[in-house]
Amino acid sequence: MKKVTFTPIGVIRTPFKTRDDAPIQPSRAEGARGTVEIRPDLAEGLEDLDGFSHITLIYHLHLSKSFKLKVIPYLDDVPRGVFATRAPRRPNQIGVSVVRLIKIEGTVLHIENVDMLDGTPLLDIKPYVPGFVDQAEVRSGWLEDALRRDKKKK
Ligand SMILES: C[S@@+](CC[C@H](N)C(=O)[O-])C[C@H]1O[C@@H](n2cnc3c(N)ncnc32)[C@H](O)[C@@H]1O
Repeated sequence: MKKVTFTPIGVIRTPFKTRDDAPIQPSRAEGARGTVEIRPDLAEGLEDLDGFSHITLIYHLHLSKSFKLKVIPYLDDVPRGVFATRAPRRPNQIGVSVVRLIKIEGTVLHIENVDMLDGTPLLDIKPYVPGFVDQAEVRSGWLEDALRRDKKKK
């Protein structure tokens, strides 16, 4: 297959310096604030984004250098296919997080509920629109039991 290369559109700044520090998902990162610094040449592309309460960030999990096709995910002790997990070590190290957009100041986006490491290269931003997601009969596979067990522990 032909290689695909991307140039980051910016960088994500968060309080998390090591992988162990970072929350596992935005839903577990309540109140964790960060910023997104967008390249000045792309500033015009931010117009109208301020009307959205949440945005989807697509980024390079740049510190993941290797992967396994079966992983024991957080929340489980059974090996799962990597594509059935959100594990950061995957064949293409792409991360996706829906975060809360607090405000935009120039080319700096202030965001909340961040689960990525400081310095993570940002590849794209999309507005989060629940109405674009088909919600009919959503199933969450092995995570349904895992999340139920996790909830009980608290
Ligand atoms: C389970 S992943 C989920 C990432 C994203 N929300 C997703 O679902 O694609 C989150 C973990 O990835 C790790 N991580 C975050 N940023 C990273 C980066 N830039 N490079 C490598 N690992 C990273 C941290 O250990 C964090 O707890």
